[in-house]
Amino acid sequence: MEHVTGDGEITTKPIILVVGARPNFMKIAPIYAELQSRGQELILLHTGQHYDDNMSKVFFDDLGMPKPDIYMGIGSGSHAYQTGTVMIEFEKICQERDPSMVVVVGDVNSTVACTIVCAKMGIPCAHVEAGLRSFDRDMPEEINRILTDSVADLLLTPSPDGDEHLRAEGIAEERIIRVGNVMIDSLYNNLARAESSSIQDDLGLEDDYSILTLHRPSNVDDEGIFAGIISALEVIGKEIQIVFPMHPRTEKMAKQFSLYERIASIPRIKITGPVGYLDFVALMSNSKLVLTDSGGLQEETTALGIPCITLRENTERPITVTEGTNTIVGCDPELIKSTALDALTTGGKSGRIPEMWDGKTAHRIADVLINYIENNGD
Ligand code: UD1
Ligand code: UDP
Repeated sequence: MEHVTGDGEITTKPIILVVGARPNFMKIAPIYAELQSRGQELILLHTGQHYDDNMSKVFFDDLGMPKPDIYMGIGSGSHAYQTGTVMIEFEKICQERDPSMVVVVGDVNSTVACTIVCAKMGIPCAHVEAGLRSFDRDMPEEINRILTDSVADLLLTPSPDGDEHLRAEGIAEERIIRVGNVMIDSLYNNLARAESSSIQDDLGLEDDYSILTLHRPSNVDDEGIFAGIISALEVIGKEIQIVFPMHPRTEKMAKQFSLYERIASIPRIKITGPVGYLDFVALMSNSKLVLTDSGGLQEETTALGIPCITLRENTERPITVTEGTNTIVGCDPELIKSTALDALTTGGKSGRIPEMWDGKTAHRIADVLINYIENNGD
């Protein structure tokens, strides 16, 4: 961590922690807290890929993270726009700040953009949540995962399948380190705090309800598929109340396809905008069933023991199926309906919590990062 400059003065080079989109905040928060408690100088950098208060600011408040030190304000746009603009701006920041290391998480455009910049500038980069693969290259995140893992220096994996995928891609063994699932650290750190959320009362929810989240382009950017999913929800809604915190992409597409009113007419459905983390954890942990296409929710429901039905054809998180409570159903309305109704009748799939999803992942990550900097720093 200590860096001796040309004139013999000792300085501390910072670690840059990168966040950009909603699922990044709950992965970086425990790493930030752990590194800070060890006295490490940190720069929290937000690319601004997500920017609405309820997709960004609320998470800093809920997760007890300080305001970002650097806000790039990239905003929405095409994949090339987002990735390219983050790269151009991030390169300038790295030149100015001279970090000892950069930490990126997950599989969003901000992740791959910052990782490529590090690789070209010779800055050590650690990828948290490395090795996940859906083997579906139509999914933008799959491209981001493959590119990020091919050039990041430290590949910190959440589960053994991650290690295996990286080995199969020819990645050197010393770059692969299993640390566990850091998103579960945030979940455990905040379960008790979430109990004080009043969201169930505020929404006037019934005792039994399900949660729905949707935002994958493969589901909501295709009118026919989106309408098919809604037809399944129209049947499920007769059996259990559905709470639907709608992602901005989904709201935009529902309105564009004139499907919004149809969703709002599903029996007893409660549509909200995206909700904050503590409210969402409160909603999820008290629900009977989760229907989703989110990556993170497949993991959180496995940790909470709540049955999860995933409206995708595949998953990059197969351990949630083999060990956890997740069932992959795709977007066939008949299968969505029958699996959901069956889960409501039987109580749904039970499972166990995967190894190293123990709330101590940030501690292991900090050990790895500090050890790497001490042994490889300039
Ligand atoms: C992104 C990630 C995805 C992740 C998801 C989490 C990529 C390629 N995709 O998808 O992996 O699962 O975030 O939520 O990085 N919008 C707003 N306000 C915001 C943010 C977005 O209105 O604060 C709207 C805009 O219309 C925008 C659209 O949502 O065009 C999509 O946003 P974008 O960041 O491009 O992708 P997501 O679908 O959010
Ligand atoms: N989440 C939230 N509010 C919501 C929906 C989700 O706080 O309205 C949290 C959820 O608990 C998880 C993360 O956001 O921690 C998942 O983000 P998202 O589904 O957007 O992304 P993905 O995991 O699919 O990349």
